[in-house]
Amino acid sequence: MILIEEHISLKPYNTFGIDSMARYFCTISTVPELIELLQHPLTIDVPLFILGGGSNLLLTKNIDAIVVKINISGIYIEEEDHQAAILKGGAGEVWHDFVMRSLDYELYGLENLSLIPGCVGAAPMQNIGAYGSEIKDTFEYLEAIHIPTQKLRIFNKSACLFGYRESIFKGELKNQYIITHVAFRLAKKFQPNTNYGAISQELDKMNIHQPTARDVSNAIIAIRSSKLPNPKEIGNSGSFFKNPVISREQYVQLVQNYPDMPCYPIDDYSVKIAAGWLIERAGWKGKTMDGRYGVHQHQALVLVNYGGATGAEVFQLSEAIIADILSKFNIQLEREVNIL
Ligand code: EPU
Repeated sequence: MILIEEHISLKPYNTFGIDSMARYFCTISTVPELIELLQHPLTIDVPLFILGGGSNLLLTKNIDAIVVKINISGIYIEEEDHQAAILKGGAGEVWHDFVMRSLDYELYGLENLSLIPGCVGAAPMQNIGAYGSEIKDTFEYLEAIHIPTQKLRIFNKSACLFGYRESIFKGELKNQYIITHVAFRLAKKFQPNTNYGAISQELDKMNIHQPTARDVSNAIIAIRSSKLPNPKEIGNSGSFFKNPVISREQYVQLVQNYPDMPCYPIDDYSVKIAAGWLIERAGWKGKTMDGRYGVHQHQALVLVNYGGATGAEVFQLSEAIIADILSKFNIQLEREVNIL
């Protein structure tokens, strides 16, 4: 039997720590509970708002909807052969716990994604990625319930249309499906992916030359902890902006003025620029507004709530940054975080 509560503060449910109110709030622990909610008479008039780990969300107002907290749990090996296993997790499992469990099972491919905030069900929404790896590299399939019909649908990798921090669930099928389980094909033989500069440096620092997956995971945990604020201590949603992609022509012009500007070639025509570098260069890194919110001091891509900021204030700050980067570099930044 599901319980629909009223007027609940969402502060504990978003990593930015913004104190918005939900008109209705319901926690879902199983697929039958989810179907029960979707068939509830209240859903005829009141829209649903699906909350995962609340780690990629800026709340700028109260939510006049049924906020649904997905708590579906369980992590297990579904099938395996000599080379690989399918590891499946409930959408409500904490992402980092899922990665740690994969290492307990000696299954490899997720170690570079250690310590990314959020939960398993939210990971495919924006194809989470870090340190040279994205979930699409190991993703096998996901299960989701279609909101209007309550039918289960299986999405394989190609159906998800994964891109850089993108998927069909952010685009064409936005608000159409609720992800309940996600499965990954993980290798039994470890192949380290330590090309991303900072990892090999960190392993050197740890005096490790033939790293295990656990070593790579520990190195990434160390790098992330040194650069990115822990949402349990300082409210944030990780990278607030995406790294922008610009044309080679524009890059060639910019690099004349800024020879140290980091860039990642994408193809013959375009390059990705580090938004964190642009924002730092424009003088925003470490800036705080009334001591309550601002730009993180170690990673300019991350906006932070030290306590008491409203979502609208953080949004205003992001507007100011976007306008400044446009005027200084003629580059249009896009937000990575969902704004509500
Ligand atoms: N940089 C600066 N100043 C800053 C931040 C970065 O100059 O304040 C420079 C760095 O020196 C480096 C470059 O920008 O040359 C890239 O920085 P970093 O390696 O920290 O990564 P990023 O591009 O800023 C992306 C992801 C992160 C992910 C890291 C590591 C996006 C939007 N962000 O950040 O993802 O952890 O790479 O792979 O793609 C997230 O999505 O929430 C997130 C944290």
